[in-house]
Amino acid sequence: MRTPRPLIAGNWKMNLSVTEGAALATDILSRLPGLPSAEVLLLPPFTCLSAVGAALLADSRVALGAQNCHWAESGAVTGEISASMLSGLCQYVLVGHSERRHLFHETDAIVRTKLESVLKADLCPILAVGETDEERRAGLTAEVLTRQARAGLLGLTHEEVCRCTVAYEPVWAIGSGAAADFTDIGEAARILRLVIEQAARGEGYGVRILYGGSVTAESAPSLLGVEGIAGALVGGASLRAADFCGIVAASDR
Ligand code: 13P
Repeated sequence: MRTPRPLIAGNWKMNLSVTEGAALATDILSRLPGLPSAEVLLLPPFTCLSAVGAALLADSRVALGAQNCHWAESGAVTGEISASMLSGLCQYVLVGHSERRHLFHETDAIVRTKLESVLKADLCPILAVGETDEERRAGLTAEVLTRQARAGLLGLTHEEVCRCTVAYEPVWAIGSGAAADFTDIGEAARILRLVIEQAARGEGYGVRILYGGSVTAESAPSLLGVEGIAGALVGGASLRAADFCGIVAASDR
């Protein structure tokens, strides 16, 4: 089966000042391989988007994205940022991260409206899905992944599905120091691929499935080798330029 170009994305979460963010982006740029086989993506906090964009000097090796957006285009929603406000600043927007689903009670329906607003703004959504430890122990992983992926993707046009990336992040592996088991990741990718193909009417091979959850430079070579996985969504290790670039380098092997 043809595999899409991998994507290595760094989710900085709620970390770094504007100055620190620009410095990290510059450091990452200086350590990147000349022509990495993966597309590299940085997801800084909203406050750093402009400065990181400037530090990247429009380098075609690195794309920029936001970690979240509101579903409405504009209006009286104090403190929120819409997808259309992000257009011109970045190319990708992450929706449905488990920290948003759990800390801010974002349902599948809310995640879907956000994903649609990202598409409407001509940006590329990254749809994060993943089961909790409780769901895993109850044998519900396949059901949860199928439900979350269907809620995000079914009913979109073919072109819209093809603009999406799906990130499998088992909630219990995030920040735990221990990534999921290769067999389980492969099985999750297989389940997600079925939904992607259903949504794309059998022509969704270009839609990437990323793995996220305690990815490090050491674990990346094997994680990126799992069948069906085309990249990584990296949290903690993306805040350290050497570690993040080590993960990017792992996708070259
Ligand atoms: P860690 O890499 O710190 O486990 O975080 C993963 C994640 O949540 C990326 O979105």
